[in-house]
Amino acid sequence: MTLYNNTRLLQALKRQPVDVPPVWLMRQAGRYLPEYRSLRTKAGDFLTLCQTPQLATEVTLQPLRRFDLDAAILFSDILTIPHAMGLGLSFQEGEGPQFERHIETMRDVKALPILEVEEDLNYVLDAVYMIQEELRGSVPLIGFAGSPWTVACYMIEGGSHKNFINARKMAYQAPEVLTALLEKLTIATIAYLKGQILAGVNVVMLFDTWGGLLTPEYYQSFSLVYMQKIIARLKADASTANTPIILFSKGAAVNLEAMADSGVDALGVDWSIDLSSARKRVGAKVCLQGNLDPALLFSTPEKIRVAVKSLLNEWGAHPGLIVNLGHGIEQHTPLENVQALIAAVHEGRG
Ligand code: CP3
Repeated sequence: MTLYNNTRLLQALKRQPVDVPPVWLMRQAGRYLPEYRSLRTKAGDFLTLCQTPQLATEVTLQPLRRFDLDAAILFSDILTIPHAMGLGLSFQEGEGPQFERHIETMRDVKALPILEVEEDLNYVLDAVYMIQEELRGSVPLIGFAGSPWTVACYMIEGGSHKNFINARKMAYQAPEVLTALLEKLTIATIAYLKGQILAGVNVVMLFDTWGGLLTPEYYQSFSLVYMQKIIARLKADASTANTPIILFSKGAAVNLEAMADSGVDALGVDWSIDLSSARKRVGAKVCLQGNLDPALLFSTPEKIRVAVKSLLNEWGAHPGLIVNLGHGIEQHTPLENVQALIAAVHEGRG
């Protein structure tokens, strides 16, 4: 068993007292870092970075060399699963993900292969081993997957879309097709997260970025139930039961109580709700992670410090807080502002 030098994240996830709250940032390895841009140019493209364990390891570590972060997050993407299922993923510079084939009919869903994680996604598992070797217990490593609904949105649309209308239409026009797809993705996601945990990640996070596009009723039946199945399976399996799970449904604060009942250890929250109101609604049942506006990082170090202090003071002395942004850090974010945010969290309340 590895002894961790920095246990803030793991303690916060158990809702134990910490000296100061842990802080990490969604998309902390990415385009706002000049060293990331330069490595991506050398590699040729984003997928090569993900699929080459040495490069994925290097990119994972880049933000930790610059900033006093309390966690590392595996460098990969939620779309590795549909890519491994053969949909033909590519990322055009500045355009986001694009699939050669998309999902429209039951036949398309039935044609999707069952994933063999150790073979089809071995590059992710190799990256986990390599990253853990480099981290040497300095900070915990977070693994992740997309929620079945969020991954399905991209598979149905064939790429990014501003409101994923085709996926949402399918929920009304062909719910049996959507359900079959979500069930297949649920099985793949359980195997994928179990693979990451056995390879050595210390925490896993489910990114349900598009959960907030669904009505509360449809959120329950097309997103939450599948995440609940994933959580229940990981918690029922002795080899994965002790790994904390964070669930992040963006724009879905209306569903907080239901999310808190899903059996997860922590909920990610965006900036549409303040953390202390969120805590009042879910009680001490789960740890909360969030929820600064990524746009705040385009202000000044002084303003960032005020915003962080106000978040920490409003939260008070309760255990179970992880400071993060409410969504991924934006490209062009000034590095000194990231530094200011982390320093302000580590100064604590006051
Ligand atoms: O947080 C981290 O540092 C770990 C790495 C990580 C990436 N993607 C790297 C990435 C994580 C956790 C993700 C998750 C992810 N991927 C989500 C859920 C979280 C979220 O941000 O909502 C989603 C929806 C995706 C799908 C995806 N990947 C999109 C829509 C895009 C294009 C948009 C964009 O920002 O370019 C990506 C590409 C991507 N994934 C990049 C990175 C660093 C940028 C690629 C590049 O241009 O170099």
